[in-house]
Amino acid sequence: MSDVFDNVMDLARRRGFVWPTTECYGSVAGFIDYGPLGTLVKRRIEDLWRQFYVISEGYYEIECPTIGQEAMYIASGHVKGFSDKMCQCPACSEYLRADHVAEAHQVKNAATLSCEDLARSICTLPCPACGKKLGTVEVFSFNLMFQTNIGPGSQRKGYLRPETAQGIFVDFGRLLRFYRDKLPFGTVQIGKSYRNEISPRQGMIRLREFTQAEAEIFVHPEEKEHPNFRRYAEYAFPLLSSEQQLAEVEAKTYTMADAVSKKVIANEYVAYYLALTHELLVTAGVNPQKLRFRQHLPDERAHYAEDCWDAEIFSERFGWVETVGIADRTDYDLRAHADQSGDSFTVYLQYETPRREKRRIINANMGVLGPKYRGKAKAISDALQETTPGKDGATVTIDGEEIFVPADLYEVREEEVDVRGEDIRPHVIEPSYGIDRMIYAVLEHSYHEDEVEGEVRKVMRFPARISPIQVAVFPLMARDGLDTIAGSITRELQNQGILAEYDDSGAIGRRYRRQDEIGTPFAITVDYDTPENETVTLRDRDSMKQVRVRKDQLADLIPALIRGKVAFSSLN
Ligand code: GAP
Repeated sequence: MSDVFDNVMDLARRRGFVWPTTECYGSVAGFIDYGPLGTLVKRRIEDLWRQFYVISEGYYEIECPTIGQEAMYIASGHVKGFSDKMCQCPACSEYLRADHVAEAHQVKNAATLSCEDLARSICTLPCPACGKKLGTVEVFSFNLMFQTNIGPGSQRKGYLRPETAQGIFVDFGRLLRFYRDKLPFGTVQIGKSYRNEISPRQGMIRLREFTQAEAEIFVHPEEKEHPNFRRYAEYAFPLLSSEQQLAEVEAKTYTMADAVSKKVIANEYVAYYLALTHELLVTAGVNPQKLRFRQHLPDERAHYAEDCWDAEIFSERFGWVETVGIADRTDYDLRAHADQSGDSFTVYLQYETPRREKRRIINANMGVLGPKYRGKAKAISDALQETTPGKDGATVTIDGEEIFVPADLYEVREEEVDVRGEDIRPHVIEPSYGIDRMIYAVLEHSYHEDEVEGEVRKVMRFPARISPIQVAVFPLMARDGLDTIAGSITRELQNQGILAEYDDSGAIGRRYRRQDEIGTPFAITVDYDTPENETVTLRDRDSMKQVRVRKDQLADLIPALIRGKVAFSSLN
């Protein structure tokens, strides 16, 4: 049975958006090629993302290697825990995601079950590949990172990055200096990530090599009020909180101000990026009726996260698909890299005015300590400062040796001192986007069919700024000078940075259909009136209406139409 997925993927392959990779050798699941038009759409979506995060938010972009050394991924927890639960069908030998098999048969909370419980819950279910009953199978954890070696013959392990985020975390110290030692600041990265997914059968949704766009925003742990919260305070859309999910009720619409004050969303930062994500996805072409924000359930949320939401987009084929994750990750990542590397991953923040604080000072009597402990005396004196002495004395550890220092060898005093600031470890707010999933959603939601003159018209209703070809230019006939005029209009638009495509082959109706199918929002036709009165027709893809406009207006008008500064309906 053909559905919108089949139609979209057929169009995507035929017209050069997306196709399977290395087809001549047999394609490999989980890898795709973006064709000429798909690559353009991808760049436009990435640039839209940059417009929001880099240009408007001021979070500059960095680019880190896609191969990382082992220490980084030990710290992040990926070496130990970045795995999915897998089993192998005894009948057809296919490797399967055990939790996906269970989920497909309505087993509740399959993602959080242990290997043993999953094995029990799938033993009566059919294998999705061959249809035979799975029976007794072993379910085990499979690490999703691609491993490699760094350097020839080297034993130094490396991994292809499973997310772009870690590159930003480990650069924290340098970024902090770049942002002049102040909080909050943010940094973004767009690039490839790699996960050796067990059984990717969902086209562009589950890939082994995919593009992420991630922002890491470093904030003071006790200051989670977003400085521009007003921008989205009254912005409203449906939220499916964990409470609503547990009560099995529908998503409910909140303004961001309400959601924060009612504690549905943990803080203004998370709410701000939920709203920004909503605006960005809709601007990119996601149907707002098919977009919801779902909060992670308590047993789904990482133990360290303060709050976590997924932007989920509805697909006719795949149901609700997680496309963006937005989380308050607390100081988990920076703390993990501090512990592993020995660097501090903190920021020294000066108080506005120094604070008077009581400090306990322990002064060792070096006259006695020196002769008694000799070479260790200085280390003991320093270590004493960190202890809480008992009535009789204090115990310190020097080079692994515990030493008891009697109370008469030091003096404890309390002093008032001026404290000018403190070292704090920032918390991280992370919106993390899967660009390929966004592109699939935009393709599916843009696909339309209507009937024109008794024929099916396939049309991709991309927002104009996402369309790969931005305007088509047609001479009505490829002769009588019409082709020369159309050629010079095309060049003039190209000089404005517009991707204009000249096409003079076939009947004009066919040319319109070809451009409709790839989503070109506007078409200019040079006809026999053009040499007479210097006007052309301008056609709108969605309404198929045409208006006559002056040829010398085009260089300003077309960019304004594409950016949405002028509506086609306002012309004539
Ligand atoms: N740094 C956080 C992080 O990586 P994630 O939820 O694992 O979080 C973020 O990934 C987004 O990356 C997802 O919401 C999804 O859109 C995309 N993504 C993850 N795995 C993917 C895959 N195998 N294929 C395509 N996109 C994927």
